Amino acid sequence: MFGQVFLAGSRIPLVRRAVSGVPLTRKVVDRFVAGETVQDAVEAVRRLTGAGLAVTIDHLGEETRDAAAAAHTAEAYVTLLGALRELDLGDRAEASVKLSAVGQALGADGDKIALENARKICEAAYAAGADVTLDMEDHTTVDSTLGILRALRADFPATGVAIQAYLFRSEADCRDLAHEGSRVRLVKGAYAEPASVAHRDRNEVDKAYVRCLRILMAGRGYPMVATHDDRLISITETLADRFGRSLGEYEYQMLYGIRTDKQQALAGAGHTMRVYVPYGDDWYGYFMRRLAERPANVAFFLRALGGK
Ligand code: FDA
Repeated sequence: MFGQVFLAGSRIPLVRRAVSGVPLTRKVVDRFVAGETVQDAVEAVRRLTGAGLAVTIDHLGEETRDAAAAAHTAEAYVTLLGALRELDLGDRAEASVKLSAVGQALGADGDKIALENARKICEAAYAAGADVTLDMEDHTTVDSTLGILRALRADFPATGVAIQAYLFRSEADCRDLAHEGSRVRLVKGAYAEPASVAHRDRNEVDKAYVRCLRILMAGRGYPMVATHDDRLISITETLADRFGRSLGEYEYQMLYGIRTDKQQALAGAGHTMRVYVPYGDDWYGYFMRRLAERPANVAFFLRALGGK
């Protein structure tokens, strides 16, 4: 309920302007965002990979409403991937892309524009020895995103996709995607969705996550288990035993700045632990979703506004 209020607020332009204009916000945002520039992102990548973690980097932005901005975002990724190429991290670094940031929301031509831009990003990633994973946004975009994924995989078969366990359709999508070579990131889901398409009760979301996880772990693809939830991590280990998956045949993923102790512990135990590293100045939507996930984050935010 509380989270839904924040998610709703995240889409109101007036609220966006009010929050973005608060001088102290930037300090609070830094807890979840690696910085604004490519150099900031590269610095975070160096630090995290130096500590034994893998990374997936997100150039912040979403719901782009003009083609020039979409092209600009694709260029930002190409620049970033050029910088990563020099670090020579291979599959320890990859990029995460929101298709709405590269044109998906641009009306009738949206899918075509997003596909062209995503292709440029995949080419740059391929040259850097890195993969790309498509984030999943609100439920109205899922068919389009999976269509663009199929088109990209024809040339870049390692392209991955996020699947949101809270959507009723996701078990079927997991079944379709659980094939050889298919990289699938399983998340609970972070958008305010109507009860007609998604579980809204936390327990129901967790149960749906386990059903999807079981399909992916039993399948032949590469599951990327993206959660900070200890119970789900322990169920993943049980399923890995049951389906004979060894270290390297699945991975864990967590968000930058969240449960960093657990990130280190999983990496220390030999798992691939990939940190989702967002950077850039368009942090508002991402930041509001992180606040919505946890009331304690809102308290932290409000304390900072109060100067404490
Ligand atoms: P849950 O929210 O139950 O959290 C479990 C525990 O983790 C909490 O008790 C707390 O300790 C900690 N925690 C979780 N969130 C926190 C926060 N914001 N601040 C502090 N502590 C926190 N969603 C989506 O819709 N599309 C996508 O493409 C992606 N992509 C994505 C990539 C990666 C790598 C991750 C980890 C997550 C996403 N998500 C996402 C977000 C996802 O849907 C979900 O909202 C968050 O991961 C929180 O859910 P948990 O599974 O962590 O469980």
